[in-house]
Amino acid sequence: MRVAAALTVNGVVYPVELDPASSLLDAVREHVGLTGSKEGCDDSECGACMMLLDGTPVNSCSYLALQAVGRAVTTVEGLAVAGEPGPLQRAFLDHGGVQCGFCTPGMLVSATALLAENPSPTEEEVRTALSGNLCRCTGYDGIVRAVLSVADGG
Ligand code: FES
Ligand code: FES
Repeated sequence: MRVAAALTVNGVVYPVELDPASSLLDAVREHVGLTGSKEGCDDSECGACMMLLDGTPVNSCSYLALQAVGRAVTTVEGLAVAGEPGPLQRAFLDHGGVQCGFCTPGMLVSATALLAENPSPTEEEVRTALSGNLCRCTGYDGIVRAVLSVADGG
């Protein structure tokens, strides 16, 4: 059985037909066609699938797509500015925050949520905010440097 619905992703409304059991991650990747968000564990452990839902980070692998209807979903693609990498994305590149890149979309989304709530985080606050995002390349220092560089006073 499929259900007709509409998902609002990065400010665009996408009509979709979903299996009610579809995760938000699967719906965005397979029905909306935005594949920046990654599936790592599919079990709320790694953060590779992180999206913002009305500004709050969620593990989209463990969130039903239909629960996101009527809410604003933001993916890593939505962090670009006029089709170019946004300031945080550029900082990741400039500060060695990207190695294989698999964790990067989720890291960027979590860091975006942190900076929206706390524009001047300490290093400890950055590390805490990113604690749900695992980097199998263990590139945490560059990632934290990147986030701090775009923080107020960074
Ligand atoms: Fe969602 Fe790992 S794929 S938390
Ligand atoms: Fe490879 Fe983080 S850069 S998983």
